Amino acid sequence: MYMEDKEKYIGVMDSGIGGLTVLKQLLNIRPQEKYLYFGDTKNLPYGEKSKEELIKIVKEIFDFFETQNVKAVVLACNTSSATAYEELKDNYSFKIYPLIQVVSKCVTLDKNLKRIGIMATQATVDSKKYTQELKKGNPDIEVFEQACPMWVPIIEKKLTDYDKNTAITQYLDKVLEFNPQKIILGCTHYPYLLDKLSQYADENLFINPAKIFAQYIIEDLRHKNLLSEQNNGYVKYFASHNPQEFEKTAEIFLKLKSHPELVEL
Ligand code: DGL
Repeated sequence: MYMEDKEKYIGVMDSGIGGLTVLKQLLNIRPQEKYLYFGDTKNLPYGEKSKEELIKIVKEIFDFFETQNVKAVVLACNTSSATAYEELKDNYSFKIYPLIQVVSKCVTLDKNLKRIGIMATQATVDSKKYTQELKKGNPDIEVFEQACPMWVPIIEKKLTDYDKNTAITQYLDKVLEFNPQKIILGCTHYPYLLDKLSQYADENLFINPAKIFAQYIIEDLRHKNLLSEQNNGYVKYFASHNPQEFEKTAEIFLKLKSHPELVEL
């Protein structure tokens, strides 16, 4: 059946529940759209994988979206924006929104920002993508990138307060020494730790990119005349491993209104 582009889905992907922080903002701004959320729980965590592995994985997810009538795909994942976006962006019929590239462009509109700290996964930090993209927007900006490899496992496995406190100060202290004006939470899972982080530093120091990113995407789709004209929005969820557990863990960000379906990659 022919489907008008406007009425197609918006695909959203992440390694697990992190991308739900972005989906939540998309739903706040534009609940009338139809969304497909893909949590790649089989390959979690992305942050410890090589660029080659991540390109292969993200390609499989894009190939899945290609079969699903999507008008756009949101990389609600810093790690795949850093490692796989450039390699795959020209191979698909849908528009792709990469988190780091979009958020860096928006953040550097404020020319008073000269010192930015980044807290992200190992793969994102190794790619230096945030530094490159922020410098494109403002060549004078200084960037300090800190990998926080313990954070995604802590969030996905909901570890104890003791584990959280030590893991938080271990990475945060290094970023605070750089004396940043702002710290970007450069992994979509990290906003979950905001309560804890704000026990050690001013909450206003942290940027959760989800809102800026979602606003940009919806404005861009509006500009391209690709927003749905109907009012029957909903979300379909997919997970590549153990959808029941995904649904349970997801609750820390969003109560899912439908059960996720298993899609084997
Ligand atoms: N939430 C993802 C990100 O923004 C990936 C985290 C991971 O799986 O390591 O980078």
